[in-house]
Amino acid sequence: MNKGFLITFEGGEGCGKSSQIKLFTKFLEEEKIDFILSREPGGTNIGEDIRNLLLHSKNEIDSKTEFLLFSSGRADHIRNVVKPALEAGKVVVLDRYYDSSFAYQGYAGNLNLDDIKLITDFAIDGCVPDLTILLDISYEYGFARKAKDDNLKNLDRIESKGKEYHDKVRRGYLELAKKEPNRIKIVDATKNKEEIFKEIVDLFLKK
Ligand code: TYD
Repeated sequence: MNKGFLITFEGGEGCGKSSQIKLFTKFLEEEKIDFILSREPGGTNIGEDIRNLLLHSKNEIDSKTEFLLFSSGRADHIRNVVKPALEAGKVVVLDRYYDSSFAYQGYAGNLNLDDIKLITDFAIDGCVPDLTILLDISYEYGFARKAKDDNLKNLDRIESKGKEYHDKVRRGYLELAKKEPNRIKIVDATKNKEEIFKEIVDLFLKK
């Protein structure tokens, strides 16, 4: 049984996840809450190697291969970072987790959701989030924000998949939230930063 608290941040490209995670972890620091921050893909040495392959490979990678790579990185991350921290009673903040696989490789990449569930359950060893913040954003809004923040010429392999793919990612996330309303909370990512932050803290404190 986990003693800690697992909170994950999810959303499409340009949803403002990074700034909200920064604000939220600053809040945890101020409240003297013991936490770790990690990310997927990544989070361990092997995870970062796999991240590099997934985001920057010049080769075609189909959805199934993509998903299995994300999942192997995830298994390593859970075993070596997430589970030990939860067992030590910490709050674990994750920048993306398995809901990304359902939205991107499942809903947008057309993989069977039951297959994703089976392999995900195998990879995560019972580490289901206590709370998932879904920063909901349209393709147009998200990529407009991205264009302002950084150079759209440097899009990675997954960011470059186009509007149709990213529209499906968004719809996928909303479906997931509909299926698990107690865990996945939708936050309108077009609101201002402070308002969103307040909403996230309220959701966290309620849990
Ligand atoms: P990242 O640089 O973390 O993107 P962002 O800043 O948008 O979070 O890159 C992660 C990319 O990997 C992002 O495009 C979403 C994708 N992804 C999947 O497709 N499946 C997954 O299971 C995970 C964890 C991420």
